[in-house]
Amino acid sequence: MKLFSIFGNPVSHSISPKMHNLALNGLHVNGCYIKTFLEDGTQLINKFNSLHLDGANVTVPHKEFAYALCDELDEFAKKVGAVNTLVKKDGKIYGYNTDAPGFYKAIESFGEVKTALILGAGGTAKAIATILKKNSLHVEVLNRSKSRLDYFLENNFTAYSWDEFEPKAYDLIINTTSAGLSDNSFPIDEKILNTLMQKAKFAFEVIYNKPTPFLNLAKQNGLTCKDGADMLLHQGVLAFNLFFDNKLNNERITEHMKEAFSL
Ligand SMILES: NC(=O)c1ccc[n+]([C@@H]2O[C@H](COP(=O)([O-])OP(=O)(O)OC[C@H]3O[C@@H](n4cnc5c(N)ncnc54)[C@H](OP(=O)(O)O)[C@@H]3O)[C@@H](O)[C@H]2O)c1
Repeated sequence: MKLFSIFGNPVSHSISPKMHNLALNGLHVNGCYIKTFLEDGTQLINKFNSLHLDGANVTVPHKEFAYALCDELDEFAKKVGAVNTLVKKDGKIYGYNTDAPGFYKAIESFGEVKTALILGAGGTAKAIATILKKNSLHVEVLNRSKSRLDYFLENNFTAYSWDEFEPKAYDLIINTTSAGLSDNSFPIDEKILNTLMQKAKFAFEVIYNKPTPFLNLAKQNGLTCKDGADMLLHQGVLAFNLFFDNKLNNERITEHMKEAFSL
């Protein structure tokens, strides 16, 4: 039997075990997926080994620790410095970042998007910026503090802190901050956000299962919107397939995993 886990702090809210166990059962694979609360990220590899895991997902705040422990890394993990999927193969740990392609799959339904503004400059912003640029979008980044902009400036993105920014037109506005998650706040000044939304066509909120102020304002402005549920689903589908050497069918995994969102 194969054993998998998600590691995080907090992790109790995670629906990844539901998603992966539905896929394991639905595809008749002998395996089980558990959740493991991990306080100290430096203990990730010890915990992974002591549980005799075949693979794992890693969430906030341990993605950088996961990156550091891998023997091999995929293109996005390398570029972003963060890993959300670990796979054990022939005694080696392989690290992947499926947040980036998961996001890209989630915005497929938007159709043509040429320019994007990312609010926030953390790990998720890096993953999203990287995949959008790879797909030839013009990407700019706006963050509260200046200190996190270095990565973006070094990688040739246009990046602003709040005090340097003047709103202009972007097709897509993406909120990657946690503003609105446990409070009712906007990721940037409400007036500036409203101006941006009046000029935009699409809005994406990485938080899922909650009508955040960002999402509500986007709806009021008539934008085509999405929350983070599809991103979560697609990063999970890609991770699941990696656990099985990419030999499974993504559509069939999706079919089973998406039931987790209606349970
Ligand atoms: N749907 C999915 O599949 C999915 C996947 C991955 C992550 N996520 C979600 O994405 C969010 C961000 O994760 P992360 O790993 O990128 O976090 P992170 O690395 O900690 O970065 C957080 C960013 O948000 C900004 N921020 C935080 N609170 C803010 C506030 N009240 N107002 C304005 N800016 C604020 C920070 O700005 P400063 O630099 O100024 O502090 C920072 O740029 C989390 O809610 C996570 O659950 C969702």
